[in-house]
Amino acid sequence: MKDIYILGIESSCDETSVSIVKNGCEDIATVISSQIDIHKEYGGVVPEIASRHHVKNITFVLEECLEKANMKIEEVDAIAITYGPGLIGSLLIGLEAAKTLAYIYNKPLIPIHHIAGHIYANSLVKPLEFPLLALVASGGHTELIEMKDHFDFEKLGGTLDDAIGECYDKVARVMNLEYPGGPKIDKLALEGEPTYNLPIPLKDDSYNFSFSGLKSAVINLSHNESQRGNILRKEDLASSFQKVAVESVTTKTKKALLDKNLHHLIIAGGVAANKRLRDEIIKMAEEIGVDVSIPPMKYCTDNAAMIASAGYYAHKLGRCADFSLNSMSSTPLK
Ligand code: KG4
Ligand code: ZN
Repeated sequence: MKDIYILGIESSCDETSVSIVKNGCEDIATVISSQIDIHKEYGGVVPEIASRHHVKNITFVLEECLEKANMKIEEVDAIAITYGPGLIGSLLIGLEAAKTLAYIYNKPLIPIHHIAGHIYANSLVKPLEFPLLALVASGGHTELIEMKDHFDFEKLGGTLDDAIGECYDKVARVMNLEYPGGPKIDKLALEGEPTYNLPIPLKDDSYNFSFSGLKSAVINLSHNESQRGNILRKEDLASSFQKVAVESVTTKTKKALLDKNLHHLIIAGGVAANKRLRDEIIKMAEEIGVDVSIPPMKYCTDNAAMIASAGYYAHKLGRCADFSLNSMSSTPLK
């Protein structure tokens, strides 16, 4: 069978990334230009600044990827692009680049939903086995999704307010940690103990999540401690917060696996890089005899390899777009 090479482009937030993936599973070359150092000065992503940097970076990232892969655009079979959700200005830069390449080189344009990309990051490790449950935990999403086949997504539940990554970042701000806070809390928590008592969010029978109450509980705790003249033990707070946040997602994931009788679990999104989440999910899955797949750290946060991998399966299904394809800041998973 002929090998299929997909060139993926991802620019939905503050990473400009281009990748070439062979047959949906082999990362030939991936280049990621991160803007973290620029945005951390502001404590979060500034959309206008992000767009400007995508414009500045996209051509260089593309050239570097092709050079690393030792390939020409003529040799790829299709161009896969994140069309949404994300920051609209950022998305548009990637989309215009993808459309231009598809037009000039006469390649199919494959539209990929950003969350589908995170899910298909797992295909870079091993092929997805259906039916499966996907736990998506990122800066913008916390969702449980059942998949019976490729690109067949059924949302079982999601966050009612903040996403888990957003909550990590906001709690980190209260603790005066640099953006993005998730990895900093993850690291600090290793040195602390869960001595602070924080409420487990939304302990109910649904598959939904809620993180704004947990965030408020951390803010209140921090204020109370400072009013009492107590020094906040950052390591212990990080450990206490992380214990509760992870327990919340692990419990609901376990419930969905058991209720729906699913035997394959994948986790995806930036927060899937979290050590405690990875450990607790693996422990839970072992306990109930579920096979679990977790992407390596480099494929958890935003990258174009996951878009190219999703693009391979979408291409096989003939999911092509015409040049009227537009970016969408918010759009349901499909
Ligand atoms: O998937 P992603 O790169 O972007 C979105 O699509 O949102 O996820 C970014 C989020 C940020 O909120 C970041 O703090 C969080 O993932 N994150 C982590 C870790 N690494 C990244 N959260 C907890 N622990 C980590 N190790
Ligand atoms: Zn993402």
